[in-house]
Formats: sequence, structure tokens, C-alpha cells
Amino acid sequence: MGLAMSTAQGEIKRVTTHTLQSMKLHGEKISMLTAYDFSMARIFDDAGIDVILVGDSASNVMAGHETTLPITLDQMIYHAQSVVRACQRCLVIVDLPFGSYQGNSKEALHSAIRIMKEAGAHGIKLEGGEEVCESIKRIVGAGVPVMGHLGLTPQSIYKFGTYTVRAKEEEEAETLINNARLLQEAGCFSVVLEKIPASLGTEVAQLLKIPIIGIGAGGGADGQVLVMHDMLGINKNFSPRFLRRYLNLYEEISGATRQYIKDIKSRDFPNEKEQY
Ligand code: KIV
Repeated sequence: MGLAMSTAQGEIKRVTTHTLQSMKLHGEKISMLTAYDFSMARIFDDAGIDVILVGDSASNVMAGHETTLPITLDQMIYHAQSVVRACQRCLVIVDLPFGSYQGNSKEALHSAIRIMKEAGAHGIKLEGGEEVCESIKRIVGAGVPVMGHLGLTPQSIYKFGTYTVRAKEEEEAETLINNARLLQEAGCFSVVLEKIPASLGTEVAQLLKIPIIGIGAGGGADGQVLVMHDMLGINKNFSPRFLRRYLNLYEEISGATRQYIKDIKSRDFPNEKEQY
């Protein structure tokens, strides 16, 4: 029996973790985007996106921090609540923020349960390999779907020192493959691979039974994810090689704002029809 939601338009079948597994089996690619608020999430869900990630990239793109480290669990729950309210079809996954799970599997479970209970999310994502497997087992054991995240894991940026491509060397690539296997064994339903060589992304997607979602991990992954601000061109100064921009919203919004200011100054707005 699948999950379904009754709406004015009829019944909408929910995307579940099982749907994603079946998509991998049938070779159908998975689409995923980040969102942090009701209005954007509603547009993405209506357009047919499979998964929305309430990413801790909210720390950068919504709050203006340099890294993902400052965002809190309460702030993630606020963003997640807004997104969940908007989504009728897609699967909504929420990042556990830095400091809410590392090194303590009881705290990890507590954080995951808060996200599920207070936001109504459908699962959580966390970063890391072997070191987070105990937490993953506990969270999955409580019935909460977990997505892993390997490669460039932004919560460890101060350890890496740079945002460059990870696992180019054989040793790091082998560790990544081993960690991906461990995440699958611990019970993850999917793993995100960020900024690694395409050949390694393909290898992991072929080795693992669970769906691999790539961001800068090449076309061999089972699905792709992008940060919405990058994909829509709201950030004009971020142009990594893996990014495809579908709009140039920075210019569009800036142009509209300039026109609005001009119309007010020139007394063109509001006109006769735009007032009571
Ligand atoms: O926080 C985020 O947006 C992410 C994606 C880059 C996968 O983790």
C-alpha cells in the first residue's frame, strides 16, 4: 500500500523511500532540489520534483553565513515546517545540522525525532561515514529514514580547509567506497555524494543497491541534487563546474527592483487603476 493524499484535484501518490528504490531498479533518474520556505517548495512540488532537501545550506543562502556550521536545530525545524506544509507529492528530507548528532548517537536520535515530530518531515540526512554509523542504526531503528552524505561534506570544511574536489587520490576514494558500503549496511535508504570524480560516483552507484544522489558526482549517479539558489541563478558569484543554471534570477529580480524604484520616483506607480 502506498502513501496517498486527497486533494481537490484527486489523489496524489506520495514519493516514498520505496519509490526511490524502485526508480533505481528501473533506471529512472531521481530529481532533488533544496528548498527552505513554503512558496518555493510549493512550486517545486507542483512541478513534479521527486525529493526536496531542506538543506543546512540554509545557513549560507537564507541566513548569509559563510559556512553551514552556525545553523541550529530549531532554525532547521522552522524551515522544514514551512516546506512540509507546501508539499503534497515529494519526499521531504531534512539535514541534521552541525552539533546536533556528531559523537553522540542518543543526541542524534533525539534531534532526528524532533525533526520528524515538529516538522512532519519524511526523513533526515546527516554527513559522514563510519563515525556516524552507530547514530544511523539508532535513528533507523526508531523508524526514521536516513540519507547519508559523503565526499565534500560542508560541515567538515575546517578539517578539509577548502571546497575543492574530494577523493581524487586512490586512498581517499577507497575510504569513500568503504564508507558508502557501511552507510548502506547501517540502514541508509540513499546517499548523497558531493564533488567527487565522476568515475567514482558511477562506481559507488553501481556497487550499492540504494540510490546515490550526486552533486558534482557525474552522470552515473542515480539522481541529481542542486541548491535552488544556484540552479535559479540567485547567487551570481558561485559558479562551480557542476552547476547548470536554469535561470538568471539575480539579474531578473534586480531589474524588476530597479524598475519599481523608478516607477515610484517618477509617480508612475500607483496609477489610477492601482488605487481605491
Ligand atoms: O545542505 C545542502 O544543501 C546539501 C546539498 C548540497 C546536498 O547538503
